[in-house]
Amino acid sequence: MADKLHTLDNKIAEAQLGGGQSKIDAQHKKGKLSARERIHFLLDENSFEEIGMLVSHRSTNFGLDKQKYYGDGVVTGYGTIHGRLVYVFSQDFTVFGGSLSETFAEKICKIMDLAMKNGAPVIGLNDSGGARIQEGVVSLAGYADIFYRNTMASGVIPQLSAIMGPCAGGAVYSPAITDFIMMVENTSYMFVTGPNVVKTVTHEEVTAEELGGASTHSTKSGVTHFSCANEIECINQLKKLLSFIPQNCEEQAPFVAYQSNGNELRPKLNTLIPENNNQPYDIREVIYEVIDENETGFLEVHKNFAENIVVGFARIAGRSIGIVANQPAYLAGVLDIKSSIKAARFVRFCDSFNIPLLVLEDVPGFLPGTDQEWNGIINNGSKLLYAFCEATVPRITVITRKAYGGAYDVMNSKHIGADMNFAWPTAEIAVMGAKGAAEIIFKKEISEAKNPEAKWKEKEQEYQELFANPYIAAERGYIDEVIKPEQTRIKLIKAFKMLENKVAKLPRKKHGNIPL
Ligand code: HXC
Repeated sequence: MADKLHTLDNKIAEAQLGGGQSKIDAQHKKGKLSARERIHFLLDENSFEEIGMLVSHRSTNFGLDKQKYYGDGVVTGYGTIHGRLVYVFSQDFTVFGGSLSETFAEKICKIMDLAMKNGAPVIGLNDSGGARIQEGVVSLAGYADIFYRNTMASGVIPQLSAIMGPCAGGAVYSPAITDFIMMVENTSYMFVTGPNVVKTVTHEEVTAEELGGASTHSTKSGVTHFSCANEIECINQLKKLLSFIPQNCEEQAPFVAYQSNGNELRPKLNTLIPENNNQPYDIREVIYEVIDENETGFLEVHKNFAENIVVGFARIAGRSIGIVANQPAYLAGVLDIKSSIKAARFVRFCDSFNIPLLVLEDVPGFLPGTDQEWNGIINNGSKLLYAFCEATVPRITVITRKAYGGAYDVMNSKHIGADMNFAWPTAEIAVMGAKGAAEIIFKKEISEAKNPEAKWKEKEQEYQELFANPYIAAERGYIDEVIKPEQTRIKLIKAFKMLENKVAKLPRKKHGNIPL
């Protein structure tokens, strides 16, 4: 027996080293953790149970039969984060550059299947040279098996991806289908074709970092939702993100016990909106005032991408919510292609996982111009409209200032299914801004006036007084209550509690046809 135990111990010790100590050292030299270290920092202490530690590849091509490593380049298993079950796979760059073989894919599929049966999130830690070149189509088949499972799991269990090294070629499509991507600055990259192919095909000279690093994907493409300074920050962000979301689509997000100190008024909000309605202010100031724990309580998603809309997770009286807020401090908070796509994807995530939505609205309309029209603001803008229309979670809107034109309808208006619509007295709910409106409807009068400028001003004033307020919408019942800004947090606490048992169903269908 002692011999047998010794044999097992030796195998385990060998597996723990992956591709060997020198390769682990090389990984450290690049500022990267090993696959096992990442799991160690991610999961609760001693909670990790490994599955498939002794799996090895079956390939005999190109001398691979003489090059075998236990685990075959990916560490898989389950454990807990803050006591909650998660499944994890961590690609091991020390073994064939973390490249994906047939057995590597089987290990990932096995834990994805377990996660689906048991209703718990899957976290993928990616660090891989892509398809194991020696295995050819077998490796491609392995990728496809994973893509299929990613898609089947979408909307059933949360799927989170951290990119901690290379992620190239078709391999990018697994993270892309998952709910959230995090990238580590300077040590990770994602692209479909790398710099060499780009140079050959388009003659562009570009580095891997410029082409697909964290800063590129967090600002230009929006592929990554979070950009993290280092791996530990990335792991901490994963844990924070999970704290806001439920285990699966049948459950509610964890509720954090909340004890009010009896003072939920937020007087600062009464002074936030500038006198001049063209002056910007930072919508985050509103967010921090209405949520628990102010600034530290807000997990902003896509912080540096499409900054004219702010989205993220927070809690109100202990309840997890998703926030979508126009940002007047950036492009006046206008809706455009990128901001519509960003917000639509966020709304759909929240709706998939029973997370109530709060919309803070200050939007002058959709961005005009050939760039927007030619790139499809029509169907891209309608994504956000569609996402709100089909969301069945509790939905509350607060109009702080502008709610103009189609954007009024789109931003979670009563008409498309919002449950509670509040407006501040500073709200301006109209087809368009007073200046533009006066120019169109009083065109003749203005041009014929002795002093056209003065006439225009007068008519602008007239339109402003008549429409640039929340009261016409309130008279119609489109706004449920005009509230003092300082009352916002109190109103939201009560309304979200009132809506906690909301039941709403979509018409029976196979699936809708969102304008992609
Ligand atoms: C097999 C691979 C590998 C791969 C790397 N290795 N990528 N082995 N298949 N795809 C091995 C290397 O031979 C080397 O082995 C070790 O991993 C480390 O690689 P290095 O090149 O020394 O590391 P580094 O300099 O850091 O460069 C990393 C890299 C580079 C940029 C990822 O290795 C690289 O370009 N690899 C090929 C990437 C690629 O073209 N993959 C296929 C993409 S197509 P030794 O024994 O020397 O340590 C694809 C299609 C997927 O993935 C389609 C899905 C639908």
